[in-house]
Formats: sequence, structure tokens, C-alpha cells
Amino acid sequence: MIRKLFVTTALPYANGPFHIGHIMEYIQADTWVRLQRMLGHEVHFVCADDTHGAPIMIAAEKAGLSPQDFVAGIAAGRKPYLDGFHIAFDHWHSTDAPENHALAKSIYLALKADDLIESRSVEQFFDPDKGMFLPDRFVKGECPNCGAKDQYGDNCEVCGAVYQPTELKNPYSALSGATPVLRTSEHFFFKLSDPRCVEFLESWTQDGRLQPEVANKVSEWFKRDEAGKVGLGDWDISREAPYFGIEIPDAPGKYFYVWLDAPVGYLASLQARLAALGIDFEAYLAQPDLEQVHFIGKDIVTFHTLFWPAMLKFSGRKVPDRVYVHGFLTVNNGDKMSKSRGTGISPLRYLELGFDAEWLRYYIAAKLNARVEDLDFNPEDFVARVNSDLVGKYVNIASRAAGFLNKRFSGRLSADVGVEGRMLLDTLRGASDTVRDLLDSREFGKALRETMLLADRVNEYVDRHKPWDLAKQPGMDTALHDVCTVCIEAFRVLTVYLKPVLPALATKVEAFLRIEPLRWADAQRSIGAHTIGEYKHLMQRVDPARLQALFEPPAESAATPPPAALPGGEGVAPEIGIDDFSKVDLRIARIVAAEAVEGSSKLLRLTLDVGEGRTRNVFSGIAANYKPEQLAGKLTVMVANLAPRKMKFGLSEGMVLAASHADEKAEPGVYVLEPFAGAKPGMRVR
Ligand code: MSP
Ligand code: ZN
Repeated sequence: MIRKLFVTTALPYANGPFHIGHIMEYIQADTWVRLQRMLGHEVHFVCADDTHGAPIMIAAEKAGLSPQDFVAGIAAGRKPYLDGFHIAFDHWHSTDAPENHALAKSIYLALKADDLIESRSVEQFFDPDKGMFLPDRFVKGECPNCGAKDQYGDNCEVCGAVYQPTELKNPYSALSGATPVLRTSEHFFFKLSDPRCVEFLESWTQDGRLQPEVANKVSEWFKRDEAGKVGLGDWDISREAPYFGIEIPDAPGKYFYVWLDAPVGYLASLQARLAALGIDFEAYLAQPDLEQVHFIGKDIVTFHTLFWPAMLKFSGRKVPDRVYVHGFLTVNNGDKMSKSRGTGISPLRYLELGFDAEWLRYYIAAKLNARVEDLDFNPEDFVARVNSDLVGKYVNIASRAAGFLNKRFSGRLSADVGVEGRMLLDTLRGASDTVRDLLDSREFGKALRETMLLADRVNEYVDRHKPWDLAKQPGMDTALHDVCTVCIEAFRVLTVYLKPVLPALATKVEAFLRIEPLRWADAQRSIGAHTIGEYKHLMQRVDPARLQALFEPPAESAATPPPAALPGGEGVAPEIGIDDFSKVDLRIARIVAAEAVEGSSKLLRLTLDVGEGRTRNVFSGIAANYKPEQLAGKLTVMVANLAPRKMKFGLSEGMVLAASHADEKAEPGVYVLEPFAGAKPGMRVR
């Protein structure tokens, strides 16, 4: 039976380039889709940029662009990532495209006709300078619980308290700095607490279609209190102008909240894809055997298992069949402070450095399973899996056999390989359903383990028969021919199993073996007395020495010999040119104010004037040596072009220079620099 599949990944926010977590999600979905295609199923695999919402609107304004131009710029940068990692979406769309405007409106109108939309007055902070309502994250102030300054409107990063923006003390707008005022406006709500919605969602989420841990978590929303009321509340789906989004029909100046029109983008992208193929969209969706599958991360489960199915159901549309939730990818166990390795891996940098995309595909697949578990990119593990398993066990099989076949038998495989060879190949072919089912159920790690065990069997066979010895013995031609033939045939079968994960490598193998693109059923067939092509190198090993370059920010080369220690406790850093030095913009800064940081014994909060017509907030680890009043009014030197850093206590916009011994215990103390008289705030230090 041929499955009809409509598959998506989450639509990434168009506020920046892809990060490695996005790529992980795409690798998971792409691998699954490629398996389905190899099985002969019909798939439409689509995605889109999620373009709307306040953060994107504000980012565009900061960049001096219209939101449309801003998101177009982001969209234009997507291709190198997708091509680079062999992510084969059939179509990439935008939630700002006309299809999405039309679909979102029609879904909303259907919900309204079904009496599931209600309007209510909502009191919210309004920025009088900007003339707009402020989303929670754009109101800042002092935490109502612990008093920490500069906390966001939804929760405190110092004490963890969760609250309404209106509860902040001394609130200010993060956009203009103005004190926000309370204003009332009409908002539209999707009445999820309506008994029809509750009944539908409780059954839809608990009927076994979701992963058990996901179903379990979502079930919390359906617990009843003494009065029989469920936790699931109505959902505020509207926002006031100015907003980058889709205008609500019959409600001038009101827009759909971005999360209303974002998942509709799945349908809009499918519609555009089908239109290009000349397929009728509504007729396609009406097929009773169509399966709708969404791959998403664990942070957006509520939207996909409550809001989205309810939107579809009560607008009379097909509901999702599966929502496959994955955990988060971390790098080096999310050790963000790791000095030697930086903070993460940029996918583009990975490609630019010449790292093989399929190393990452293989590694991520090897660590993925069907559960909602985080997975960690660990460099040592990465090297081991790629070099020992992928190259050492699998690729090697071909290189061990191909040379003899080409040199001694003009590339011709032998027609019959003898009992032992046949038994080995039968074992490999016999695993076909197991590997298929593991991949289909997203147990990629297990599927690859199974495949590598098979590769082990092949390598054992090679070691037993030693083709390199056979090649030297007279009269052993037939034996050599058979052993090498078994290797190549085994390699072809293993390539079938690995192809969903390693599509580009499989293409190279197909060219080398001179065969048609491999489909799943080809594992069962025998290649027979076929002539293969010249063996060309299929895949490099990872050079562990180059891994360091992968991490952001680029760290110093580990190869530099440790310099001799100076009295300060550390040697002089590797030589740089004047160009390197001039990248560091050092400025004279006036310390306008200095104050203790509650909750930190090390840090002082400095307010610095660098002659920019505004002040900067900088945290400096000098509290042990200085009292705030010793510093206020003094001049010092700061790094003015250091990327701002978000700290627990707020944003730090630069760094003040201070001297210290490398070993704090040997000689404690930090000493802030102060310029000779005459220097003025804003002067460059060079
Ligand atoms: N725009 C929304 C999704 C709308 S879907 C109608 C969004 N965008 S996102 O760019 O923040 O995230 C896109 C996807 O990437 C989500 O599925 C999210 O879970 C996933 N990931 C984000 N960070 C991730 C990791 N570190 N690891 C794995 N996936 C991660 O949410
Ligand atoms: Zn707090």
C-alpha cells in the first residue's frame, strides 16, 4: 500500500539565520522522508519562514528595513544551509505569502461562524513614545519578587519568579525607555475552554497518536478542579496595530497573533507546492488516507497539540495524524561558558570549513531516538562515530574489495559466490524489515547500530578470507573473485540501509557501482554478474585537530606552544598584526555611576559614558577591590565594540580594562586602568 504523506518541520522564525538546532530538526525529518520515498510512498515535504510578530517587526526597524524586506533577506540566506546539509524540502514558503493570508482568514472566519471566537477587553502596557502596545518581553523593570533590575515582563532571570508585566516595579519600555501606561483594548479569544474543544482535544491527544511522554504532559490541561473546570483556557489570538501580521477580517487595526497564522503556513506552503504541480489543494487534503505529519521540538508542543488541531478541527479541516516531538541539541553539554570551545557550532561555518555534511547527518542520526530526549554534540564522540563506524566499518568494505575487482577482474562481479558468501548476504538482506521499521519509527540510533553490526559481520568475513593473501597465491583467483564480490554486494545492501541518512554518499556509491538510484527493495535483489566502475574515494575521516575551528568563537590554535610565564603568571599571547589589534575599539569612558549588584559578590554595575549621547551598562568583576563610591566620576578604558553579553543580571555592553595576575590565589586583586589627565570620554585608545 502506498502511503500519502504531507510532512513538515516547524517553520523557523525569520529573525536570523539557522542554528545547529534547526539543522538537527531538518536532518531528522529529511531522513524519515527519504526513507518513505525509497519505500515508494508519496511525500510532500514542505516548510516556510515564520515571518510575523513583534520581535521581527522590531528587529526590522532596528535594521532600518521594512519587515517585508527584512524577512526577504533572511529567506534569501536559507538555501546554502538546506543544500549544504542535503535537506530536500519540496517547497519553502513564507507565512506572509498571499496563500497564508487567505487561509488564516478563512480558518478564523470558520471558527467565528462556529461560535468559537469571543472578544474581551484586555488591559495592557502601552508605550506612549512608540505609540504601540508592548509585548511582555518588551516591558522591563524591577522584579516584584526580588527587586532585581532590568527584568523582562514575564519572568525574572535572577530569582525565577513568573508574573504579569503590570506587576513590575518601575516598568519601562525596552523599545524607547519610556514609562508605559495601562490601556484597554478589545482582544479576540479562541474559546478553547468550550466543551466541544475540550472533548475533541482530550480524545485527540490521548488516543495514542502522540509519544507517551507528550500525551502525558498534555493531559495536565484536562485535569478537572472541584468545580469540574479544566486547566485549558481560552487563547488570545489578536494583537493591536502596529503589528507585522495578517489583519483580522472586520476588525480594522487588529492582527492575528503570530502563532495563529504560523501553523497555517504549513497548509499555505503545501498549497503553493501543489499549485506548482497542478494538483487541487482541497481535493488532495480530502483524501481519507492522507497522513499529515509534523516534526517539531519540545518547546512548541502546546501550539501543535492543542491550538493547531483545534483550529483545524473546528474550521472543518483535516487534523494532524502525527506530531513527532524531538528534544534539543546541545553542544558540549550546553556548557555555554566553555572557554576553550566557545558557545556553539555555526552550521554555515561547519560547511565553509569543508566539514562533510554527512558526518553531521550520521552523527545526529546515530544519537536520535523516538523519545523527547535532548542530545549532545560531543566532539570526541563525533570523531569516534564517524571515523570508527562510518568510515572504518562501512566505507572501508568497498575500498578493501574494489581495487582487486578492478585490477584483476576488469570490475566484473562473479555470478555465484559460494555458500558462505550467500549466507552472509542473506543475513544482511534479512535485516531489511527490521532496519526499515526502526527508521520508520524514528529509532535512527538503533537502525544505525543494527547496520553497523551487519558491517562488522562483513569485516569479519573479509578478515577470515584475507583477500590480500589470496591475491598473492597462485590458483586462488576464483576465491579472490568471490570474496570481493561478496564485499561489494554486501556494501550495496548496507548502502540501501544508510541511504536515508547519507544521500550524497549513496549517490557516489551508485555511480561507482554503476547502478540505478537505490530503492529500499533493492536490498532484496541480487546485483548478479555486473560490472562496477572505478573506485573513487568515497569519504574522508574527520581530522580531530581541525575540530577546534568548528566552535564559535574561533579559539586560538591549540598547536601554539605554551609561552614562557612572565611575572604576571602567564606568557605573552601569540603574535598578532596591527590589523588584529585595530579590531579592538578601546575608548576612554567616564564612570557615571557604580553600584553593587544584588546577588553577586564579584560584580559591580557600571554606568559608562563613552561620548555617544547615551550611557552603557557594563558589569565588571571588580567588586572585591573597589567600593562603588571609589569609582564614580573617574575615567577608565573600555572595549567599546565587544558584542553585548546577556548576563544573569542584565545586558553588559562592553568591558572595562583591568590588570590581574593569572593565578588569583598567588596574587589576588584586579586593578582598573585610569588614563593620564587630559583624556576625554569617547577618545580612542590606540
Ligand atoms: N516559529 C516557531 C515555530 C512555528 S511552527 C508553525 C519557532 N521557530 S524557531 O525558529 O524558534 O524554532 C524552529 C524549530 O527549531 C522548533 O521546532 C524548535 O523546537 C527547534 N529548535 C530550536 N532550538 C533547538 C535546538 N537547540 N535543538 C533542536 N531543535 C531546536 O519555534
Ligand atoms: Zn526576581
